[in-house]
This record gives sequence, structure tokens and C-alpha cells, in this order.
Amino acid sequence: MKSTRARLDRLISQKTQIPMSEVRLMLARKQVEVDGNTALDHKQIVTQFSRISVNGQLLQDNSPVYLMLHKPRGVVCATQDKRHTTVIDLIDHPMKDHLHIAGRLDFNSTGIVLLTNDGHWSRNLFSPTAHIQKYYRVTLAETITEETVRAFAEGIYFKYENITTRPATLTPEGARCATVALTEGRYHQIKRMFGVFQNEVLSLHRYQVGALTLDDLPEGKCRLLKQQSAGSNSE
Ligand code: URA
Repeated sequence: MKSTRARLDRLISQKTQIPMSEVRLMLARKQVEVDGNTALDHKQIVTQFSRISVNGQLLQDNSPVYLMLHKPRGVVCATQDKRHTTVIDLIDHPMKDHLHIAGRLDFNSTGIVLLTNDGHWSRNLFSPTAHIQKYYRVTLAETITEETVRAFAEGIYFKYENITTRPATLTPEGARCATVALTEGRYHQIKRMFGVFQNEVLSLHRYQVGALTLDDLPEGKCRLLKQQSAGSNSE
């Protein structure tokens, strides 16, 4: 995912093909505006969402988009797929082809999938170091043991990546049902954690990410979010 921050003179030069030296002169001549203010500092850091105009002509005017989808079973978390419905196919938004998926779910998993054009936001939510809690409801083939609960809390070694998972909370709610709270989002993480105990995950539903919940969003539907509504309720 590309960085969404850039130096103002570089960004203008890249977008207009005007040499950097010329762009700096334009700044000195007060010909550039960022978010309605005259920009003078060529080192000013701007984002993909800064509104930039040069000589009164709009050069960049992107709005951030944050969407929550309630993913049904049997839908692929990909932008294109030849055989299956994708999460993008389920979205009705004019910017849908410019969005990326933040935190994928497996084909048979259900629940919250977030889509955005704001790489900074999605990196922050799903990076293993950001410590934002994700909550799942799982159904298992076998009874959940005390040993499994302890292992989730202590961390489980994944040989392939040579890492130990961060402490996670496994709360049994029945012999074969539980909730899991994780701060990471590694590939097939929950299935692999139960796999260590030969316990197959039969269903997996993500019902919360940080402070974001599905509320009454029906399966297969999406809704727009405010950026500020995600990202709290971290570890
Ligand atoms: N862990 C998994 O194993 N699968 C998911 O879809 C999400 C988390």
C-alpha cells in the first residue's frame, strides 16, 4: 500500500510535470493553496486528502471514504475474482473501485469487513503493532479445553512466520462456542491457533473492530462510517 503523505513541492511536480524549482517559485509567489490557505513552505507535508489548487485551478480534491460491510459466507475478500462474488461486488458506492480492503476475512467467515481509500487509517487499524482489538464468535468441532484458553493468553508459536502470537482472550461460552479477542490479523490466525489443538473452526464471525460494531447492518449490506468512529477500544 502506498504512503498517503508527500511533500507539497514533490506532489505538485509529480502531478503537473512542472520542475521542482519552478514549483518552489510558484509557492513563493503565493500561487498555491492547501485546504483554502496560501501555502508558502515547499516542505509542507500533505496527504491524498489535502485540497490543493495552483493558480486557482484545482489539482487534487479527494474525499476519504470509510465503509463497513457485513460480509456473508461464500464471498471473497478480493477486488476481483473469476468464480465468486467479491466484497466489492456487494458495494454500492461511486468510489468503490478506488477502495482497498482493511483486514480480510476468509471465504467462509462472516461479519465486519472495512473498506477505505485511506491507507493510513487501514494500516493503523490492522497492523499487528497498533493493538486494536478485533472480536470474533467461533464455533468449533471439538470441546474447548483449559489448555487452549491458556495457550491463547500466552501466545502460540507459528513456525512458518517464526513468531509467537500476541496474547489473545479466548472466552468459552459453551462447550464448542467461544468469543476470541485478538489484536493482530495474521493469515487464518484463529483457525491456525485452534489447529494447534486439532480443533477445527466450523464458523467464524467478526462482530467488532475497535469501537466499531455491526449494529443492525444486514448481511450483504454496507454503510458509511465516520473516521473517528473507529480506532478506539484498543488494548
Ligand atoms: N482468523 C481466521 O482464521 N479467519 C478469519 O477469517 C479471520 C481470522
